[in-house]
Amino acid sequence: MKPNITPLARERVRRDEDFIVSKTDAKGRITYSNRIFMEFAGYAEHELLGVQHNIVRHPDMPRAVFKMMWETLQSGREFFGYVKNLASDGSYYWTFANVTPTRDEQGKTIGYYSVRRKPRADGVRFFTELYADMLATEREAGPRSAIDVSRRLLQDTYQNQGTSYEEFVLAL
Ligand SMILES: Cc1cc2nc3c(=O)[nH]c(=O)nc-3n(C[C@H](O)[C@H](O)[C@H](O)COP(=O)(O)O)c2cc1C
Repeated sequence: MKPNITPLARERVRRDEDFIVSKTDAKGRITYSNRIFMEFAGYAEHELLGVQHNIVRHPDMPRAVFKMMWETLQSGREFFGYVKNLASDGSYYWTFANVTPTRDEQGKTIGYYSVRRKPRADGVRFFTELYADMLATEREAGPRSAIDVSRRLLQDTYQNQGTSYEEFVLAL
């Protein structure tokens, strides 16, 4: 069950050497969490194992970002992205995430692996603004077209620079 947490304007700042690592099964349920993840998210290991990874989902994150993440993973590619997460005490922490599918010998996806490093300050500033615009667009558009319009906003951003999404986030 996802806990009901009130988000606060309080940031947990990452140390340069911190890597937040987690693994999930094919359905996105957590199967492994390193100590840094437990520390930042503010949960004990037994509270995380077997639980959906949206336990740390922050309401400031647009839906379109996770849609894109899952589409990328399901097509067998790795995903990079700036993600704002919610800790159990309501504080938040920004990460730059790399999520990869884990496959068995037959090539079937059996889970996912995510490593998150401290994000660049410029990237956080940029995505704080862009995600706020995307979220506002999602709310205005209503549930049916929310993701399409929000995604267009994101697409316009990197296409205007003549790059792909991946080149764009990696360059920030
Ligand atoms: C390996 C892996 C790591 C993930 N890490 C995060 C994360 O740090 N924060 C987050 O909000 N969602 C993360 N997700 C995505 C969640 O599973 C979920 O799709 C997202 O939180 C949106 O939840 P919702 O569909 O309930 O809104 C991760 C998924 C996988 C497979």
